Amino acid sequence: MPKIPVSQERKQKKTFTEQEPSVDTFDAIQTRRSIRNFIEKPVEDEKLQRILKAVRMAPSWGNIQCWRLIVIRDSRTRKAISELTGSFDKSFRYVPKTNPAKRGIVEAPVLIAVCADPSQFGPLQSKHYYMVDIGIATQNLMLSARALGLGTVFVGVFDEEKVRRLLNVPSNVRVVGLFPLGYPRKAKDKGPSRKPLQEFVFHEKWGKRLRTDPDSARGAES
Ligand SMILES: Cc1cc2nc3c(=O)[nH]c(=O)nc-3n(C[C@H](O)[C@H](O)[C@H](O)COP(=O)(O)O)c2cc1C
Repeated sequence: MPKIPVSQERKQKKTFTEQEPSVDTFDAIQTRRSIRNFIEKPVEDEKLQRILKAVRMAPSWGNIQCWRLIVIRDSRTRKAISELTGSFDKSFRYVPKTNPAKRGIVEAPVLIAVCADPSQFGPLQSKHYYMVDIGIATQNLMLSARALGLGTVFVGVFDEEKVRRLLNVPSNVRVVGLFPLGYPRKAKDKGPSRKPLQEFVFHEKWGKRLRTDPDSARGAES
């Protein structure tokens, strides 16, 4: 897929089906890594808008679009939020220990708090699809950031109640993830390994694996 610059892409005004992405989707998927250190360079408004619009285009159950985003630039608020990130104990309870992304929240010029309004959802066979919708929307956020040369990381471990109060988020709304957004301090390597396909793909029925798997690579390469 040929890459075309953003400005050219806009001028061309192609229809939806003709349109070519500026970065190949598989490139973005393969090269995205969690970025936790950033340089001081500001994030251009145009790029931020493109990322927010990518979130907007995410599919959602019944097209409810439960996501609500708070874009935070204020450095004092970012610092205060970084202090509310933490770790978890064996019972998955939040504990106020250090989080690997704590510093990144202070360094990155933008922090996006992704919230979910679950009021229009009930669990469907005990499945809370609003969290799925947030997962898809935030993947759009992370991949479009990558496509634009920016970095981010899903920060999921924080004191939700305190973050909610700090940002005036209503009590019925969940704060699901925090995303520091900025230019990466350095290019990231392959990152943590992935399970080979044969560990999680079954054929025809649960548990039926292929005897040999052509793709048993553990790394992030395709
Ligand atoms: C729901 C969720 C919560 C996460 N929470 C944190 C977090 O609190 N702090 C952090 O540094 N990384 C967090 N991560 C990032 C993961 O550690 C990371 O995605 C994983 O190790 C794979 O590395 P990669 O993203 O570089 O491929 C989270 C990721 C997800 C999807």
